[in-house]
Amino acid sequence: MTIIKNMSSLSVADDINTSDVQPGAVEANQIITGDARRVLADLPTHAVDLSFWSPPYFVGNTYEEHLDFGDWQNLLSEVISEHTRILRSGGFMVVNLADILCFSDENMPRFAADNLTRKTSPVTRDDVLEAMEAHPGANRRQLAARLGCSEQTVQRRLEGNNARGGKHTTPTRVLLTSGLVEKWALDAGLYLYDRRVWHKDPCWANSRWHSNSYRAVNEFEYVLVFWQPGVVVYDRNRLTSEEWSDWGSRAVWNIRSVRSNIRHEAEFPEELARRVIRLFSPSGGLVIDPFVGSGTTTLVAAKEGRRWLGIELDENAAATARSRMVTEAGRTECAHQRGRFSGCGLTTGLWRPRPLGGW
Ligand SMILES: C[S@@+](CC[C@H](N)C(=O)[O-])C[C@H]1O[C@@H](n2cnc3c(N)ncnc32)[C@H](O)[C@@H]1O
Repeated sequence: MTIIKNMSSLSVADDINTSDVQPGAVEANQIITGDARRVLADLPTHAVDLSFWSPPYFVGNTYEEHLDFGDWQNLLSEVISEHTRILRSGGFMVVNLADILCFSDENMPRFAADNLTRKTSPVTRDDVLEAMEAHPGANRRQLAARLGCSEQTVQRRLEGNNARGGKHTTPTRVLLTSGLVEKWALDAGLYLYDRRVWHKDPCWANSRWHSNSYRAVNEFEYVLVFWQPGVVVYDRNRLTSEEWSDWGSRAVWNIRSVRSNIRHEAEFPEELARRVIRLFSPSGGLVIDPFVGSGTTTLVAAKEGRRWLGIELDENAAATARSRMVTEAGRTECAHQRGRFSGCGLTTGLWRPRPLGGW
């Protein structure tokens, strides 16, 4: 085995030819603004112990408005295929995502639901226009009284909604995402090692359909664990025996969602990242997140004594992640590095980037 200089802190399994690890242009312990596909291509080969990420979900969030379904598939499959090169042998790519509950499908047969308890008003737009003609100057309340309907119905008819009170939108169905991701990973040579369910808070507020259908609100997501072929170093000491029985060996993780989305509209809780990082990466290993958002993965990686790298397309989110690393993770990192480095980040310039190929 060829050991390159400065490899002391890289965690590389014995069965890998470490000469594969080329120092790249990218350095650890930083948040990089850019497209994940481009930045991942600059990472050194076989340097990453764990890549943990939650991609755009294709559910209409602001940060994914530029993507159509084809773009979304290309983004995820290209990011996944880059992992074959950057993950170390025996390393993991862990993906947190959810099914798409309102996937628009033009080809779906259209049937308006027959809602027994919420019958919509039979008043049509023509009825309202006729009443306006017959009673010029009548306001909406007076028109509603004459037509025997609500003011809201009058408003809806005038604003162009259909006679049943709903907009003419494309019908939607559920689209299961795990199989797509599994296929892209298999195509790239990564194998599904495990899957867990993150049971989060029920999303009443964001559910577009729970009140007038038999469908359930959104309250769980997946954690899909993919393995880069190679020896998995199994260290029972990564968790305490309570942690193994509470969540380490459990398939369903009950973790509250973040209390507010002020920092980022799709932030995941630190506890989710903490479990993934503690379970699937060694102490001192390199943890990356190519869709880092507000920096939750990198923050927790630093707190757990791992090296870290975050990539984010949106400049504002990247700035949030950087400031979070400084304000929330600084002291923890100092504690982890004490004894290894003479200087502490807080006094010598926090988060100096370090070469991924060894620092
Ligand atoms: C689901 S959010 C991640 C949230 C993150 N886990 C957190 O806790 O804040 C997905 C992120 O991916 C970013 N993104 C979208 N396309 C990207 C791309 N091509 N490269 C890098 N980041 C991208 C979005 O701007 C968004 O911040």
